[in-house]
Amino acid sequence: MRNDPIGLIDSGVGGLTVLKAIHRRLPAEATVYFGDQQRLPYGPRTKQEVRTFVRQIATFLRRTDRIKLLVIACNTATAAALPALHQELPIPVVGVIAPGAKAAAKVTQTHRIGVIATAGTVNSRSYDRLVRKQDLQNQVTSLACPEFVTLAEANDLTSPHAQQVVTAKLQPLRAAHLDTLILGCTHFPLLQPVIHRAMGPTVHLVDPGVATAQRVATVLTEHQLTRLKTTPPTARYYTTGDGASFERVAQQWLSTAVHVQTVPLTDLTQLDTLEAK
Ligand code: DGL
Repeated sequence: MRNDPIGLIDSGVGGLTVLKAIHRRLPAEATVYFGDQQRLPYGPRTKQEVRTFVRQIATFLRRTDRIKLLVIACNTATAAALPALHQELPIPVVGVIAPGAKAAAKVTQTHRIGVIATAGTVNSRSYDRLVRKQDLQNQVTSLACPEFVTLAEANDLTSPHAQQVVTAKLQPLRAAHLDTLILGCTHFPLLQPVIHRAMGPTVHLVDPGVATAQRVATVLTEHQLTRLKTTPPTARYYTTGDGASFERVAQQWLSTAVHVQTVPLTDLTQLDTLEAK
């Protein structure tokens, strides 16, 4: 069990930002990543739909790779499915929202915190609740930015077009006098340089992936699940979408060779129920 991989789930390439933070923080751990690109975006979907998808992928990863811990490396899926999966799965499950909210509450000086995310995450109000739970003085301004998911999936991260889309979209947030902005969608750290330029140097950008990796390290220790093997760890990748485009983004972001395996959706839709505990 201790030597089994950590599983990560996202709708696409966004969760690779969490994977990179986990590789940095826990370089000895094996990982397996699942991007559900054919059903992307998750942002506009209902909670029930997203929960079903996450259940299917969790079941798939448990069967194929015997994952020892699941990271829901997607804010939308964390908001929709974390409490249910906590209850249903016999392995620890870590989401990205609580670590991100805590990190932002630590950093802010003025208590004016922004959240950019998908519509699903914004409508769940999960960040508002958790950021204010840290300190009731915190004021949260949220903005749904689904266009940024499209840019990240297209690997359009630094072009003048990407800058123009991001700057125009973030205009209303500039007027909110924030000192901290949570990148509340795991795709958004891929666009960090253009977001930084749009918001200006005084706004601190919080990538919840970094705090999530720290949380994963703590949970592994608590459950005595830290990997013992001294052989180099493996990193596996699955997508339900186009393997070539996944590999392009993953290789560029992770600076390593990536080979992704394509999973037909029918392999997932048969897995509607979780395996018994
Ligand atoms: N990366 C996902 C998140 O963190 C969502 C992107 C999507 O809409 O599929 O919310």
